[in-house]
Amino acid sequence: MGFHTISNDKDLKICVFMVGLPATGKSFISQKIVRYLSWLSIPVKCFNVGQSRRELGVVSPDAEFFNSQNEENYKLRQKALSNTMEQLFQWFEKEDGTVGIVDATCSTRERRQWIIKQCEMYDIKPMFLESWCNDDELIMKNIKDINSTSPDYTDVDPMMAELDFKKKIQYYKNVYESLNSQTDSEVTFVKLINISEEVIINKIQTYLQSRIVFYVMNIRIKPRCIWLSRHGESIYNVEKKIGGDSLLSERGLQYAKKLKEMIEENAPGEDLTVWTSTLKRTQQTAQYLNFKKLQWKALDELDAGVCDGMTYEEIEEVYPEDFKARDEDKYFYRYRGGESYRDVVIRLEPIIMELERRENILIITHQAVLRCIYAYFMNVPQEESPWMAIPLHTLIKLEPRAYGTKVTKMKANIPAVSTYKEKGTSHVGEADVSNKKNDKFHNLLINAPEIISPVASSTNLGKFGDLSKQ
Ligand SMILES: *[C@@H]1O[C@H](CO)[C@@H](O)[C@H](O)[C@H]1NC(C)=O
Ligand SMILES: *[C@@H]1O[C@H](CO)[C@@H](O)[C@H](O)[C@H]1NC(C)=O
Repeated sequence: MGFHTISNDKDLKICVFMVGLPATGKSFISQKIVRYLSWLSIPVKCFNVGQSRRELGVVSPDAEFFNSQNEENYKLRQKALSNTMEQLFQWFEKEDGTVGIVDATCSTRERRQWIIKQCEMYDIKPMFLESWCNDDELIMKNIKDINSTSPDYTDVDPMMAELDFKKKIQYYKNVYESLNSQTDSEVTFVKLINISEEVIINKIQTYLQSRIVFYVMNIRIKPRCIWLSRHGESIYNVEKKIGGDSLLSERGLQYAKKLKEMIEENAPGEDLTVWTSTLKRTQQTAQYLNFKKLQWKALDELDAGVCDGMTYEEIEEVYPEDFKARDEDKYFYRYRGGESYRDVVIRLEPIIMELERRENILIITHQAVLRCIYAYFMNVPQEESPWMAIPLHTLIKLEPRAYGTKVTKMKANIPAVSTYKEKGTSHVGEADVSNKKNDKFHNLLINAPEIISPVASSTNLGKFGDLSKQ
C-alpha cells in the first residue's frame, strides 16, 4: 500500500492554493479533494481565508470591503491570508499534516509570488489550483446559492446578497490575473476551465500532486444518480456464513426479479450500465436487467482469508483473538490471508474515479464494498463505516450535489435475513437497532428513507471530515 508511509515523508508535503474568482466552485473542489484524500487515509485539511478574516472581526463585510482601492482593507485581507498560512504551517509541523488546501482567491500574480516566498521558508513548494469559469449558467447558480454556502451572507436578504455578491465579483475581476503557461512557466499549477472541460497542467512534480490532478480532472458537476444494491439473499447468507461464492436463495432470486421492476419504476427510460463483482451472487442478481453489464474484480467482497466460509460463531470459537481484534479495530483489521476494510478502499479507488466521471451506473455488489463506496459519498468516518447497516433487498439511490449527497432508500418487499453483526457478539441480526436511535451512521440506512449527507464544513474537515459540527 505504502501510500500512508510515503505521504509522511517531509519532502512530500503538499500545499494546494485555490485560485479563482468568487462563485467558480473553489470551495466545492477543495471539499471534494478533502473528502477523497481522507477516504484514502491521507491527512488533509482545508484552511479558509474567509474564516481567518472573520476571526479578525470582519464578519459579513459588504462588497466594498473587497475593493482593492481601499488600502486599509487590503491590509486586513493580507493579514487574513498570512494568518491562514500560519495555521497551515503549524498544522504541517505539529500535527504532521500531509495535504493542506488553502481556500482563497489568490487572484493576482503579486499575491501568488508572495505565497511562494512564504512557502520557501518552510521548504514547501505550493501548487496552485485555478478554477476558471466562463460558463455563466454555472456562475449564476453559485451566486444564487451564496446565502446557503457562505457565512458572510447567511443573514442577508437573498436579493440583496445576490446584488452585493455580484459587485464583489466585479471588484475581484478588476485585478484578477489568471494563470498561464507563459507568464507562470515556473509555477506549479493546474487550471480547470469550466470545472473540467479543459485542463492545463504546468510543472506538476510529485506523485501525490499528480494524484490530486488526476482526481480533479475527473470531477463533474452535472446532476446525476448512482444506484447501489447488495446482491439478493444468498444461500451462505441464510446459513450465516461469510464469503464464499454461493448462489442466491429462493428469496434472493425473487429480489433479482423485483430489482428489474424497481429500476424500471424509479429510473424509467434510463440507459444504465450495471457493474457487478465477479462473484455469482451479484451476477445472478443482475440477470434480469436488460442493460450493458461489466464485471469488476475490484467489487468482490472483502476477502475473509482463512475465515472464508465460516459463521461468526465458528470464527469466535476457532480464532477468538482475531474475532476480538477485528471488533476492536474493524477498519484496519486484516483477516489472516485476507483483507481489511482499508485494503478494500485501496482497490476501490479506480471505481470511485470512474464513478466521478460517469453517469447512470447501477452497482450490484457486497456489504463491505458498499460500505466503503457509501462512506466516500457520504463522508462517513473510517471508525464508523465498517459498522453501517446496509440491509439486503434494498435499492439505494445516491445523488451527488454540490454540497452533499442525497440518499434515497427503497426497500423491496421481499424478506431476507439480516447479515448485520454488532460489535462484541457473534450473533447476527438487527434486533437491537431500535435502541440505537442516536447512532446516526449505524442507523443511516435502516430508519431514514431519505437523507442528505452532512455538508462538509468549508473551513475544517479535519482528518476524517469533521462531522460533529453539522
Ligand atoms: C465554458 O462554458 C461556456 C458555456 O457553456 C462556453 O461558452 C465556453 O466556451 C466554455 N469555455 C471553454 C474554454 O470551454
Ligand atoms: C437562499 O435564497 C433562495 C432564494 O434566492 C431561497 O430559496 C433559499 O431558501 C435561501 N436559502 C437559505 C439557506 O436561506
